[in-house]
Amino acid sequence: MPENLNLVPFVSVEAMMDLVLSIGTERFLRELAGYIEADFHRWESFDKTPRVASHSRDGVIELMPTSDGRLYGFKYVNGHPKNTKSGRQTVTAFGVLSDVDSGYPVLLSEMTILTALRTAATSAVAARHLARSNARCMALIGNGAQSEFQALAFKALLGVDRLRLHDIDPAASRRCRDNLSALGFSIEICGSAEQAVEGADIVTTVTADKQNATILTDNMIGAGMHINAVGGDCPGKTELHRDILLRSDIFVEFPPQTRIEGEIQQLDKDHPVTELWRVIAGSAPGRTRADQITLFDSVGFATEDFSALRYVRDKLSETGRFDTLDLLADPDEPRDLFGMLLRRQALTQQAAAPQ
Ligand SMILES: NC(=O)c1ccc[n+]([C@@H]2O[C@H](COP(=O)([O-])OP(=O)(O)OC[C@H]3O[C@@H](n4cnc5c(N)ncnc54)[C@H](O)[C@@H]3O)[C@@H](O)[C@H]2O)c1
Repeated sequence: MPENLNLVPFVSVEAMMDLVLSIGTERFLRELAGYIEADFHRWESFDKTPRVASHSRDGVIELMPTSDGRLYGFKYVNGHPKNTKSGRQTVTAFGVLSDVDSGYPVLLSEMTILTALRTAATSAVAARHLARSNARCMALIGNGAQSEFQALAFKALLGVDRLRLHDIDPAASRRCRDNLSALGFSIEICGSAEQAVEGADIVTTVTADKQNATILTDNMIGAGMHINAVGGDCPGKTELHRDILLRSDIFVEFPPQTRIEGEIQQLDKDHPVTELWRVIAGSAPGRTRADQITLFDSVGFATEDFSALRYVRDKLSETGRFDTLDLLADPDEPRDLFGMLLRRQALTQQAAAPQ
């Protein structure tokens, strides 16, 4: 019998930060992108379901499960755009990876930082197939928690080194610029989204609002642009004007989920879209013309979190940067769960008794 069946490796926020910093953010993003791409390659081996969403007036709480038959993973994630006003994150998350054979968790991890990394890595994986190969300038609209990660993933995977930032809150743009200032970008802050997209090869929208917004209108999008639409990820929460969708070739993660949550909720249910995994696996074309407008309608899919948990687990054995949690009851005799409770009671009573 293995020892310490009760203990589960646990990656706290602090341990995640140490892990990312010890690997280096850009290398982390590149390696994570490799895991995400590898799992898209074997797309058909995964159990897939649209995430389970619990909507409320101000936000959503979602569970995102998947399995490849050997490992099972799920993420708990929320989206509450009003949260930043009370000092909280818009998005927080944690996740679990388990061994399918025994059902025992093998990893419990913070996923707020990991979600920002995996979302950015997935965006850059998509853009590698969909943006023009000479794309170097990106408009980044919405300069909150996800934004620097997006910028760094596009730098690490595509060589993007010019950023045009815009946020309705100028302080957010200034913070984003300052955070990225020593990391090899030339950065301009723009007073409007329209100004930000001028001269950009790639446009990333990563705003947070609990409603259909129009961050980009049709007149802003020129031939050859790639749009990485990240912030529209819930029913009734979109960022692009419908006319842009009608002019774009649209690429999605898992159509049954994206039709509910993505920009394409604005279109007919049978509007043609291409699944990203097919492009990655080579069974569908990505960009075919320099003047084509491509759109990655990102909502975030469970396999990306699974890939991220898999990557973190592999890295733990290299770096040793994790804690262990006494998470699983482990009585001496598996069926004597109650006996374990009684033995604990006896021990505590013994310790409390006067000597
Ligand atoms: N697709 C995915 O996989 C995925 C993953 C994570 C988060 N998201 C989504 O990305 C969005 C951003 O997340 P975050 O954690 O960075 O949120 P955040 O609240 O930290 O930042 C959002 C920023 O958008 C700005 N903003 C809001 N409306 C705007 C507008 N009209 N024009 C310009 N800027 C505007 C806000 O001022 C804020 O700075 C959220 O909607 C979230 O749900 C998507």
